[in-house]
Amino acid sequence: MTQQTRDGEREKLALEIAGAVVADNDKLPTLPSVVWEINRLIRDEKSSAADLERLIMTDPVLTSKVLAFANSVFFASRSTTSNIRQAIVRVGLNTVQNLILGVGVTGAFGTKGEAEGFSLTELWRHSLGVAATCATMVRRVPLSVPPEDAYTAGLLHDLGKPILMTLFPEPFRAVVEDARRRAVTIRQAEWDTVGITHDLVGDLYAQSVHFPERLRRGMRFHHQPEIVPGRPSIEVFVHVADAVINGLGIGESGNGAAPDLVPGAVELLGLQESELPELAETSCQRLDEELSMLL
Ligand SMILES: [Fe+2]
Ligand SMILES: [Fe+2]
Repeated sequence: MTQQTRDGEREKLALEIAGAVVADNDKLPTLPSVVWEINRLIRDEKSSAADLERLIMTDPVLTSKVLAFANSVFFASRSTTSNIRQAIVRVGLNTVQNLILGVGVTGAFGTKGEAEGFSLTELWRHSLGVAATCATMVRRVPLSVPPEDAYTAGLLHDLGKPILMTLFPEPFRAVVEDARRRAVTIRQAEWDTVGITHDLVGDLYAQSVHFPERLRRGMRFHHQPEIVPGRPSIEVFVHVADAVINGLGIGESGNGAAPDLVPGAVELLGLQESELPELAETSCQRLDEELSMLL
């Protein structure tokens, strides 16, 4: 096969993938109806905490997961809460909305359909590590972005990977194999093999299910963050957390090489590269517990 034919095939596959992601695709897991409703509530400026509470109570399984997460991640060692109204009052509307999106979406994708050499359980472990590290970093940079937004953006940043794996299992298996064989990042292998990368795939999906803009940014730009001095946006936190979690080998995200840090990203957060491993490890102390709540 000539290079030109190979490029043509790759382009065709990339278009096919993009089309399948935005189509009403019944191969993808059905998101809980609460997730759809939450997206509607987020866009509705007149919505209240009472609306949210009523909505959440319609899905008891998701409610209990959200409470478990709120207790673990956002209340830390303070006393726990066992009802959703209290949780909304104590951690705020935005946090509860974020948790429903993050926990609802990861729960829907779950751990089914493992590809050879790629485990969804390990991907969620990686994602939880990124989420927790993002939230810690955000708390150190006052007035940047809300910690709960950073947490959810971290949790969902690599969603494009399970989407690719579910819709195109054979090409995805080839991508994972290629990344390992050539010792390159999975993003590089995606580009070279199927012509489209998981950051774009995740964002296309997020658009099609009307995710809030801040979560979409985390997905779309986590490998190419915008570096604006004095103004770290959400994807910069995800980018830095992703690199450090990959470097520490917490979970697995299909990389054959650790993704590089974009120059200036760490400095933009007022941090030093040398302090990142300890910051991430401290953030990840309850990872096993969180993983068992998530899946
Ligand atoms: Fe990624
Ligand atoms: Fe990642």
